[in-house]
Amino acid sequence: MVPVSATDDLSPADLPRPDRAAELRAALLAADFTADGLLDLLGAPAYAALARSETVPAERATRWPPGGAPPALATLTRLFLLQHAVPRAHAEAVLPLAACLADGWLRQDGDAVRAVVDVRPYGGPAGQDWWIVSDLGCAVGGAAGARRAAAAAGTADAAGAADAAGADLVLGVGGASTTLAGLTVPLDGGRVLDLGTGSGIQALHAGARADSVTATDVNPRALACARLTLALSGAPAADLRAGSLYEPVAGERYDLIVSNPPFVISPGARLTYRDGGMAGDELCRTLVRGAADHLADGGYCQLLANWQHVEDEDWRERVADWVPPGCDAWIVQREVQDVTQYAELWLRDAGDHAEEAGGTPMRAQRAMGDYAARYDAWLDAFAATRTTAVGFGWITLRRTGAAEPAVTVEDWPHPVEQPLGDAVAEHFARQDFLRRTDDAALLATTFRLADDVVQEQVGRPGEEDPEHVVLRRQRGMRRATRADTVAAGFAGACDGTLPAGVILDAVAQVLGEDPAVLRERTPGVVRLLVEQGFLAPAPPGGAG
Ligand SMILES: C[S@@+](CC[C@H](N)C(=O)[O-])C[C@H]1O[C@@H](n2cnc3c(N)ncnc32)[C@H](O)[C@@H]1O
Repeated sequence: MVPVSATDDLSPADLPRPDRAAELRAALLAADFTADGLLDLLGAPAYAALARSETVPAERATRWPPGGAPPALATLTRLFLLQHAVPRAHAEAVLPLAACLADGWLRQDGDAVRAVVDVRPYGGPAGQDWWIVSDLGCAVGGAAGARRAAAAAGTADAAGAADAAGADLVLGVGGASTTLAGLTVPLDGGRVLDLGTGSGIQALHAGARADSVTATDVNPRALACARLTLALSGAPAADLRAGSLYEPVAGERYDLIVSNPPFVISPGARLTYRDGGMAGDELCRTLVRGAADHLADGGYCQLLANWQHVEDEDWRERVADWVPPGCDAWIVQREVQDVTQYAELWLRDAGDHAEEAGGTPMRAQRAMGDYAARYDAWLDAFAATRTTAVGFGWITLRRTGAAEPAVTVEDWPHPVEQPLGDAVAEHFARQDFLRRTDDAALLATTFRLADDVVQEQVGRPGEEDPEHVVLRRQRGMRRATRADTVAAGFAGACDGTLPAGVILDAVAQVLGEDPAVLRERTPGVVRLLVEQGFLAPAPPGGAG
């Protein structure tokens, strides 16, 4: 373990020093270089396009006539987001230029200046103005973006840039980063570990609520970027530690561990931000397995992961098998890609895709050959492990110490409502309730139907009775479940006034069924409705 405190020199020569980050922040705020300011300047379509790495609309929105002085916000957008050389005088009108040059945020390029890192406005959940620092071209895309940025800046040729900048690139905020941030249980206080901090985005979120944040990364450049992100955003400093996986936090426990790890299942360890360097999905397995030793009682571990779908093996069993003893788990598969789609996605991310290779015909031909060879090697590695597809999803563990932990593994590719942090915490609270409530106690409990539940009737138009009824939640995971007449009637009557058993007796009477049989048969359905949040135990005091 290499602990890195705020006083250590954590400034690789190619990255800025954070000493005067507060001065820079003041200038960015004064120019309204914030998420809201940018949205106003660019308009929603160009703003959204930028988040997809498409810069043309933002280029158009920030052009100004030659000779005129551009607005401060346009200058900063062109400098830090579009990564253009900006006339020195324009930069000087907006930024503490001498300090920015001396501290390495900017570099001189003839009569102009250029950004050394990507500095991207990011709106925090409580309206905070934050900025994320990452490598140029990596704010949204991976190494492919760095390749384009280096070629555009003339610091490397298009084909060589990714490998030259290479292995230790630091990514900005991608879809995975914001997914994890939205999923994170909103603890108040406590100790948080952000494992594989990268740009520091998870540490930034955590720092807004936690008592302390430890952020680790195997890449020292990532730790430097995380420190810059936190300093520039005016967030509390994190305890930054270099090292792999749990190595930097041996013997320590946390109330929350978050990790968007390098989960890509790839043949070889080419790009540190995504290739874990362990075979198959072993890195994710190791993280999940090891979490129990680093979680405080009741603590959560939340991570994004990829897992193999192996011939003649149920992926659910594979991933459930990773869960350490004493932890409840909720594993959600969001997407599955076959091995060809998967290899193409990540070859494109690295800038290996044939379309990415510009330059001379000979270079293009060589790049096509490299692409084919890399693609082939990827498929070889999948074939050798009988992997047919790769699942992507979320894993949340909660250390309960329960002898019989609740492990839920499910496929849920449908749209959800982010942020989901509260819904995640509620899921685990419901598991606690179900574990301590036997069937007799369940029937004696008073439930309330969640406010966001609607009923859909499915059947042929004009038919008197529906083929079936679906109960659907509008919030959170936006769950849907088929319900028979008993379940739908029962759920509809749960208004927090009568115990479940009494409602079932009434439903039995209406349907002409034997109440004893219904009481015997129904607890499983009630459990499912509770587990998925359709029903919640009502607080004492009735419907009120
Ligand atoms: C996908 S990035 C995530 C960055 C950031 N936390 C986010 O949410 O956007 C994965 C990070 O894990 C780091 N990493 C790679 N291998 C690691 C390892 N063995 N141990 C710890 N961190 C590692 C990479 O350097 C990279 O910063």
